[in-house]
Parts: sequence; structure tokens; C-alpha cells
Amino acid sequence: MVELLTKPLAASLLALLFTLTLSVPHPLPGSENIIVRDPALWYNADAKQYSVFSTGGTIETYTSSSLNGPWNDAGMALRNCSKIQKPGNCSLWAPDVNFVNGTYVLYYAVSTGGSPNSAIGVATSPTMDPGSWQDLRELISSNNGTDYNAIDANLIDADGLQLTFGSYHQGIFQLPLSDIHSLKDAKPPGTHLAGGDGQPTEGAFIYKPQDSKFFYLFFSHGVTPLLNDPTRPPPGQEYRVLVGRSENVSGPFVDKDGHALTEVRDPPAGTLVLGTHDNIYAPGGQSVFRDPVSDLDVIVYHYVRKNEKPGGYSYLGINYLDFSSGWPAVVEK
Ligand SMILES: *[C@@H]1O[C@H](CO)[C@@H](O)[C@H](O)[C@H]1NC(C)=O
Ligand SMILES: *[C@@H]1O[C@H](CO)[C@@H](O)[C@H](O)[C@H]1NC(C)=O
Ligand SMILES: *[C@@H]1O[C@H](CO)[C@@H](O)[C@H](O)[C@H]1NC(C)=O
Ligand SMILES: *[C@@H]1O[C@H](CO)[C@@H](O)[C@H](O)[C@H]1NC(C)=O
Ligand SMILES: *[C@@H]1O[C@H](CO)[C@@H](O)[C@H](O)[C@H]1NC(C)=O
Repeated sequence: MVELLTKPLAASLLALLFTLTLSVPHPLPGSENIIVRDPALWYNADAKQYSVFSTGGTIETYTSSSLNGPWNDAGMALRNCSKIQKPGNCSLWAPDVNFVNGTYVLYYAVSTGGSPNSAIGVATSPTMDPGSWQDLRELISSNNGTDYNAIDANLIDADGLQLTFGSYHQGIFQLPLSDIHSLKDAKPPGTHLAGGDGQPTEGAFIYKPQDSKFFYLFFSHGVTPLLNDPTRPPPGQEYRVLVGRSENVSGPFVDKDGHALTEVRDPPAGTLVLGTHDNIYAPGGQSVFRDPVSDLDVIVYHYVRKNEKPGGYSYLGINYLDFSSGWPAVVEK
């Protein structure tokens, strides 16, 4: 194709391609060596301190006074293993953090790789400090006889408390809560919001920007690179962050092309927010947070380095998000 173009035109097209390729901002500096998976971010205004929570142990906690770090490894959120009686109760996944009625609330999952024998647990803390979390109870449970997987919880206070959860083959669901540790009368799995039918859809997170009439359902699609796994998926099948939106917290969520996130499609329903770019490979496990210090929306995620050997660590990525077009875009501050 390039041969058919005049040299100056080819050069300017190449320059344009180069600009487009470079147009996704790099993660904020300061967290490039912080090893996380499925990070969640919150800010304690009294302590003037950010906390990032990660899959691993009894939920690893990193703290910093700035989104640009330095981040300190502050220790495990829960002092003990989860009291949930399931395999994996000492190796907790996919934290979700919130502040409800003056108390910090942490949801976590107990499971083991690929197993539907899972549960979502809840803990509370007055400060978010490691060891200050009180493990309350199991909230939703699943096993190989249920058509949902009780992992990847996300709480939003809209139309009452709503807990979104569930991953991968069976899809993403939502249940109303009567308080942070009790389901309302609805039975699991509740309202089907996205994925299902074997689609690799997981890690849902619902976010409503200030002054927006839309709720945005962010999710991770594809294959996440795992520690010690020497293989990478075929190009284009690795993790990436997609989104749909709805005026109702319970959906239906649709992408920019009008496809419902519950449709089974290839390529999948969902508008791209963040995919592989530069040395950032397979970003996902995202959460979204209103930073009260900058008054800006931020997305927090993990990624692996494209130039590292497969099977290595995943790192903490933080970027600002702009919703002014009606769809989230990763932007410089
Ligand atoms: C942790 O477990 C120990 C020993 O079972 C118990 O005494 C302690 O109260 C537990 N701590 C918390 C925060 O649950
Ligand atoms: C973890 O779960 C196992 C069952 O899988 C149970 O035997 C054990 O007591 C649990 N641990 C705690 C701390 O409850
Ligand atoms: C906050 O607490 C009040 C008083 O206990 C209660 O009525 C309200 O439902 C709580 N809100 C949430 C979101 O739990
Ligand atoms: C499903 O769970 C039951 C009870 O835990 C177990 O006996 C059975 O082997 C499991 N089936 C599969 C296919 O994993
Ligand atoms: C959102 O949709 C649910 C389910 O259809 C409905 O019960 C609820 O009233 C709706 N909420 C609003 C604010 O319209």
C-alpha cells in the first residue's frame, strides 16, 4: 500500500500512525514497581492517605500520600485468614473498597483458580489501616451446581446498595443489598448485566461520574497473564478494559454501537477504554475512583510489561479518565 503513495504522503501517514500509537498516556509515574492484581483505590481524608488494595494473601495494602507515590507496602488488610469455610480462604482475591455511612467496607472473594466453589466476603474498618479490618461474614456463595461464580464483587450506592459480581463463563450479575452485609430478598444471581455463555468477561465495576446521567459498567475481557504461566494468548485475545453505559444502575448497559453487554458477540460487546499499548500489555482488573484531591476521575488497573518474559509480575497502573464525550477516555491530567 505504502508503495502506491507519494513519499511525503506516506511519511505523514506514518507520522499520524505514530502519533495515534503514542496517544494513550503512560501510567502515572511512581507505581511502576508496585506489584498488584485487581487493584482497588480509596482515600482517607483524615489521614490524607491513599490505599491501594490488591489480590494476594489476606489482601495486600499499599499506602501513599500522593497518587504519584511513593507507595509503601503497608501489610495485609485482614489480620487472619477469612472465616469463610472454603479452599482459598487464606489467599483472597479481587478487593472492592467503599465508604458507607462513615465506615470503610471491603468485599473480597474466596476461590481457587478456575473453580466455581467460591464466596464473597465482607469486612469493615474505621480507618482502612492493615489489621484494622473486621471480617464480618460470607455474603454470596457458589459451587459447581450454581450458574454463577461468587467472585469479583463491586458495591455501588445508587437506588439503594447494589452488589455487582460474578465472572467469566456465567457472566456478570447484580443483587440489591439491604445493608452492606445482607442481601435483600432477591436470590442470587439476580439481574444479568453482561457476559455469559462462555465469554471471558470479568471484574465488573460500575461507576457514575459526578454530573453524569450515566452509570458506566467497566469490565475486563480476554485472558489475563498469570504469574508463572509461560504462555501468552494469541494477539488480540489478551485482557483489556471495555465499557458500556446505562441511565439505570441495573442496566441494560450498551456500548457505543448500541450492543447490549449481555449479547454474545465476537468481537465482544463493549467499547474499548484501555488495551495493550507501548510496553503496557493486557491491562485489566480495573476499578474507577473519584479522587477528592484533584477532583478528577481515575482508573486503577494491573498490567504486565510487554518486554518482560511471560509469567512475570503485574504492576499497578493509574491514569486519569475523562467522561466529557459521554464515553470514558484515558487522558493526561
Ligand atoms: C485472629 O485469630 C486469632 C486466633 O484465632 C484471634 O485470637 C484473633 O481475635 C483474630 N483476629 C481478628 C482480627 O479476627
Ligand atoms: C478455611 O477453610 C477450610 C475449609 O476449606 C477450613 O477447614 C478452615 O477452618 C478455614 N479457615 C478458617 C480460618 O476459617
Ligand atoms: C446509613 O445508616 C442509616 C442509619 O442507620 C440507615 O438508615 C441507612 O440505610 C444507611 N445507609 C446505607 C447506605 O447503608
Ligand atoms: C461438584 O461438587 C461436589 C460436592 O462438592 C463434588 O462431589 C463433585 O465431584 C463436583 N463435581 C465436579 C464436576 O467438580
Ligand atoms: C432501574 O431498573 C430497575 C429494573 O428494571 C427498576 O426496578 C428501577 O426502578 C429502575 N430505576 C430507576 C431509577 O429508574
